Amino acid sequence: MRSSILLSTWAAGLAQAYTVTVTDLFMFKNIDPIVLPGQYTSHMHSFFGSDAVTVNTTTSAELQKGCSSTENPNDFSTYWVPTLYLIQDGNHTAITPMRFSAYYENLNSAEIAIPQNYRDVAGNASAQSQDVLESNAGMKWFCEGDPEDEDTDDAAFPTKTCSTHLQTLLLFHDCANPDTLESAYSENPNYFPTYGENYCPKGMYRIPQLRFSIRYDLRTLLPDGWEGQPPLELACGSSYCSHGDFINGWLPEAAENMLNDPSKSEFFGVDGPLGDYNAGSVCGAENATDSDPSHGTSDYAESVRMMKSSSMMRKRHLAKHRRS
Ligand SMILES: *[C@@H]1O[C@H](CO)[C@@H](O)[C@H](O)[C@H]1NC(C)=O
Ligand SMILES: *[C@@H]1O[C@H](CO)[C@@H](O)[C@H](O)[C@H]1NC(C)=O
Ligand SMILES: *[C@@H]1O[C@H](CO)[C@@H](O)[C@H](O)[C@H]1NC(C)=O
Ligand SMILES: *[C@@H]1O[C@H](CO)[C@@H](O)[C@H](O)[C@H]1NC(C)=O
Repeated sequence: MRSSILLSTWAAGLAQAYTVTVTDLFMFKNIDPIVLPGQYTSHMHSFFGSDAVTVNTTTSAELQKGCSSTENPNDFSTYWVPTLYLIQDGNHTAITPMRFSAYYENLNSAEIAIPQNYRDVAGNASAQSQDVLESNAGMKWFCEGDPEDEDTDDAAFPTKTCSTHLQTLLLFHDCANPDTLESAYSENPNYFPTYGENYCPKGMYRIPQLRFSIRYDLRTLLPDGWEGQPPLELACGSSYCSHGDFINGWLPEAAENMLNDPSKSEFFGVDGPLGDYNAGSVCGAENATDSDPSHGTSDYAESVRMMKSSSMMRKRHLAKHRRS
């Protein structure tokens, strides 16, 4: 019975409950505690949410000690993406998004809350073309509200000026193992025989699906707009390398509340121990700052120097080992 309900809901794409929280950018920095823990050698990222994040962060408890720039006072997650730059005369100018929304979707299908210490990366930071992208990540760049450009790849920048915002979307895994914290995208078991009735690999459960929706307002930066390739670049390269990182920082009670939607079909605000869903950051979003300001950099050129010198050191190290 349960499975047939799940299957039909999934197949028919029935409206599912979701929540969303908006979060402000609080730093640009050349770190990535998931992909390059302990190192200041990443490409530049734009950070949102709990400012307790450092090069070493691994737990939700660490993030919950920080000041969060997110409007839901119960959300101490840290979210980050490669920084988007405007390129003019070879200069890189970092662009602060107009709005960064973290959606949590398909709440009706979720079997467990997002586990504490859970983390995930969506997208492919080394992708430079559409064909290597996993379709489940739903990575897209487009002009909000404008007709879709049929001739360009989903993950390419739009080739014409946006009438309002440049927008990008990215979907995270929706299956997780609460013990190992491994995760995956759900798949239909009719086509993926190793997947269970919950659409997840064995040992995994459905969790709320995180989706990034980021809007950039380019109207002041590029008053004349663009035709063809826009003068934009992500810190990781072209539009295709767009990716997102997430370390869960939701207070456990609020993470559980996400599954208690009474309406089951629309937006619902997730309240928690620190207040209602729209109460605003406890410490003031504007007060979130880099908690490790004496290391790493927020400057593009400096981040490139730091990446180069680390790769040179790595090569020297390898050469030395080969000789001995
Ligand atoms: C990260 O961990 C290293 C190794 O334990 C330590 O030396 C460093 O101070 C830590 N950095 C931060 C910002 O916590
Ligand atoms: C680019 O940077 C140089 C050196 O800082 C500066 O002189 C120039 O005005 C900048 N150009 C633009 C378009 O910002
Ligand atoms: C990511 O992109 C690289 C470079 O195109 C490709 O070789 C690799 O297979 C991709 N990784 C995944 C997990 O799809
Ligand atoms: C932000 O920090 C300032 C200066 O410390 C403080 O006066 C203000 O109350 C803080 N904002 C909030 C909402 O706590």
